[in-house]
Amino acid sequence: MKEIKLRMFFDAHCHLRTERILSNMIPFIAVYASKVIVMPNTRPRAILTGDDVIWYRNEIQKALRGNKMPFEPLMTIEIRDNTTPQTVEEAKKAGVVAGKAYPLGVTTNSDEGLRDFFSGEITDTFQAMEDIGMLLLIHGELDGEKILVTEREKNFIPVLVKLSERFPKLKIVFEHVSTKFGVYMVEQLGENVAATITVHHLCLTLNDVIGYGIKPHNACMPIPKTFEDRDALIEAATSGNPKFFLGSDSAPHFRNKKECFVGACGIFSAPVVPALLAEIFEKEGRFNRLEAFTSANAAKFYGQPLSEEKITLVKKDWVVIEEIDGIVPFMARQKLYWEQVL
Ligand code: NCD
Ligand code: ZN
Repeated sequence: MKEIKLRMFFDAHCHLRTERILSNMIPFIAVYASKVIVMPNTRPRAILTGDDVIWYRNEIQKALRGNKMPFEPLMTIEIRDNTTPQTVEEAKKAGVVAGKAYPLGVTTNSDEGLRDFFSGEITDTFQAMEDIGMLLLIHGELDGEKILVTEREKNFIPVLVKLSERFPKLKIVFEHVSTKFGVYMVEQLGENVAATITVHHLCLTLNDVIGYGIKPHNACMPIPKTFEDRDALIEAATSGNPKFFLGSDSAPHFRNKKECFVGACGIFSAPVVPALLAEIFEKEGRFNRLEAFTSANAAKFYGQPLSEEKITLVKKDWVVIEEIDGIVPFMARQKLYWEQVL
């Protein structure tokens, strides 16, 4: 049987949530990733300060009890209009590696997102982040009058360019890049700019969300776009270019929160992340670059050591379960061709 061994992944964008979702879903990430960048958009308690981080890290450790594989949550805080240089300095002392900026209102729990990326106050905060070596993670979409949801990423690019020029030593991650243009811009900008790519954006186009009936479990932000965009993402992910690395954006929501009047955006991809990546890289004939995408590139950008532990995948058909404790995983009911040996 065909088999591959890979270093445990560095998943650079994960929503672990809290309470029941945290405890029931974290095992699906902990089987493949040894380091994850933990997104701070929890509710009701958002992760905004060093104290929030200490609380949240403790919740994560409790949920990990009994987990046998190494798992290190690398913590982040939300950067809001009122986040000060002092806040980020204190957060750094609590072990925070990055601040996440959500422009106002573009995705799940961005209700308190940034209104202005260039106000005097927030540029002082970005300056402090640059000085102390804290990364800036950006949900790179900007809403506006007469801006379609499919145009929001493009509409954000001028902000990215300006930030990268103004803070040339601030490491910026353009999260879940979803367009050919976004990929091109990340390639063009300086070494301080990198991007995460999700597994679902390597699989989906807008057709898979609304083209053949409405599929709420494929709804996410940024919205999957054209075939050309998807091809550019596949090319970037499998290229070996150190600027591109895995950030699954695994984002579980209960089924009733997605199948309703205003459904939540976010895809719970964790159970299928390794299998789908093996399939995609095999199809491209680029197995040799898979580990760069899943481990090495992110570790380098974040200045973290490489994981020594390995996972094993075998070529074997299996069908993805329809629901796990109230949550529908990505690719539910569909056949996949690689399986992780547990
Ligand atoms: C994420 C979530 O559910 O928290 N949703 C999503 O569609 N990706 C938030 C985010 O990363 O945008
Ligand atoms: Zn996310």
